[in-house]
Amino acid sequence: MTKLQKLKKSIQYIIKQPSLVNLILDQNDIRKQQFQKTYPNFLSLPEVSLDEISNQNFESNVDLFILDGGSLPTDLALLKTLAKGKDSYFEIGTWRGESVWNVAKEIEDCTTLNLSKAEMEAMGWNKRYAELHGILSKKNPKILHLEGNTKTFDFAGLNKKYDLIFIDGDHSYEMVKHDTEQVFKHLVHDKSVVVWHDYAYNAEKIRYEVFKAILDGTPKEFHQNIYHPQNTMCAVFNRENYRTSAFESPKTPEFLFEVNLKSNQF
Ligand SMILES: C[S@@+](CC[C@H](N)C(=O)[O-])C[C@H]1O[C@@H](n2cnc3c(N)ncnc32)[C@H](O)[C@@H]1O
Repeated sequence: MTKLQKLKKSIQYIIKQPSLVNLILDQNDIRKQQFQKTYPNFLSLPEVSLDEISNQNFESNVDLFILDGGSLPTDLALLKTLAKGKDSYFEIGTWRGESVWNVAKEIEDCTTLNLSKAEMEAMGWNKRYAELHGILSKKNPKILHLEGNTKTFDFAGLNKKYDLIFIDGDHSYEMVKHDTEQVFKHLVHDKSVVVWHDYAYNAEKIRYEVFKAILDGTPKEFHQNIYHPQNTMCAVFNRENYRTSAFESPKTPEFLFEVNLKSNQF
């Protein structure tokens, strides 16, 4: 097929199904161009190693299902490491509850917020997907499960600040920006640490839609304190000054992680 024929065919498909145009607009390359217009000098976050974050040789063990929509083992281990010595945790986006479950091994006071089952079903989401929410975290009765849509949720009404906050709900630009603004407005104190999931598609590929939302939603004076923990898909805000390195892709590996897998019936 020639380029012209491909263009004609594509236009025919778009006329039949206009939402297909989002496939082009959501392309990471297009998002990168939009990002660069706003942040020409900010192509990536500074990188910080997991050793630097844990202040020693990084070591952690985590529970995870290794199923669709789950985090990397290093993402969960990052949260668990940051949780050490902290007293309270708030999370947006529960899904099966793997992140809050792991953090709850370090922090007693854990809260996770997610859309209710009814709201997910009303939005036409898969019924079984809705039912599986919290399947792990609800096994820990100490974890507080809140239901709500962050679009309308009353964050001020919580009347509480948290030591560690994880933003991992809807990953569209609008919602990451919105959730970030709410967190910085209502939940952050002087020493809070904020983690975002999906800053990157994988440890080396930045997700520019989310990256832009993180920067647009975070007060400008804090931009210098946002880092990319190496080998994770996360970004982290911490007032601590880390030793950093520049983002590089393809990356020359610096760490070889040892992974021991053990299955337990669930
Ligand atoms: C990627 S999953 C969370 C994964 C979980 N943090 C983990 O690591 O185990 C995102 C979750 O956000 C929830 N979600 C999406 N949009 C939301 C919204 N507007 N308000 C609250 N929760 C939302 C989805 O139902 C889904 O469970």
